[in-house]
Amino acid sequence: MVQETRLSNLDFMYPMFVDSRLTSREEIPSMPGIHRFALSEVPNEIAEVKALKIPAVLIFGLPERKDAMGSEAYSDDGVVQRAVRAIKKEESELVVATDVCLCQYTDHGHCGPIHNGTVANDETLELLSRTAVSHAKAGADIVGPSAMMDGQVKAIRSELDERGLHDTLVMSYSAKYASAFYGPFREAAESVPRWGDRRSYQMDPPNRKEAEREIALDIREGADIVMVKPALSYLDVISAARARFDVPIAAYNVSGEYAMIKAAGQNGWLDERRVALEVLTAIKRAGASIIITYFAKEAARWLEEAAH
Ligand code: PBG
Repeated sequence: MVQETRLSNLDFMYPMFVDSRLTSREEIPSMPGIHRFALSEVPNEIAEVKALKIPAVLIFGLPERKDAMGSEAYSDDGVVQRAVRAIKKEESELVVATDVCLCQYTDHGHCGPIHNGTVANDETLELLSRTAVSHAKAGADIVGPSAMMDGQVKAIRSELDERGLHDTLVMSYSAKYASAFYGPFREAAESVPRWGDRRSYQMDPPNRKEAEREIALDIREGADIVMVKPALSYLDVISAARARFDVPIAAYNVSGEYAMIKAAGQNGWLDERRVALEVLTAIKRAGASIIITYFAKEAARWLEEAAH
């Protein structure tokens, strides 16, 4: 009764990778227990998510083909669009969020088309808006722009509204740091930039005030949910955001944070279950209302077991 923070399966959003080239699932080597799914396997995985009473998923796509403009990201037949339609056909109640970015879809691996050696911000806005609209039309409840382009929330919100998609929420990756903790994800999503890095558009880890400024801007642009990412090394940023802003805060417990615990657990160096639950509890204690985590399914099981 005196416990101040209670972790629950209702806090979790489960990220899923869907790969249009696959016919059966493939485990991601640096993320034991996490797979890239074939489109045909999506309904099965979703049934498990539902059985574990996890309220939301976040869908990432790996396209058939990549090109300079990332065109499969905004194709109505794109992998995310197809996955969302498949999920919504079976489970209309499950909250479906989608990642809105171009880096998995461009052949150079950057988050938008390149001009003169850098990502063209405003041209990218148009493509992100098209992507968000096509996800929303496929049935996504939440679109999550993660490209860190200036003005992306405003561009997406106004495009959604213009198309009558007023009920689609925007969850902005507002405070997204240029972090080495994304390593395993980039392997999973095959989105390692071919040259350079993302430091011109992602945030510098030493900065917290800048994160607050980014979040304030996104709220003004119409973000319904704001995100801090990664989570574990940025608990102070989550906490500062919680104290200052009134919108729901999502925290992304990213791939590298998952991989560390898994690796240490497999080596017998840490008690994986206890450490994972401790970390997730800490993220909630810091102030996150939504925890995006690859541990979602396992943690839901562990919490269920602990309750009995
Ligand atoms: C795409 C994107 C990334 C992640 C989520 N969306 C990678 C990146 O910016 O390189 C990382 C998620 C994770 O590490 O779990 N822009």
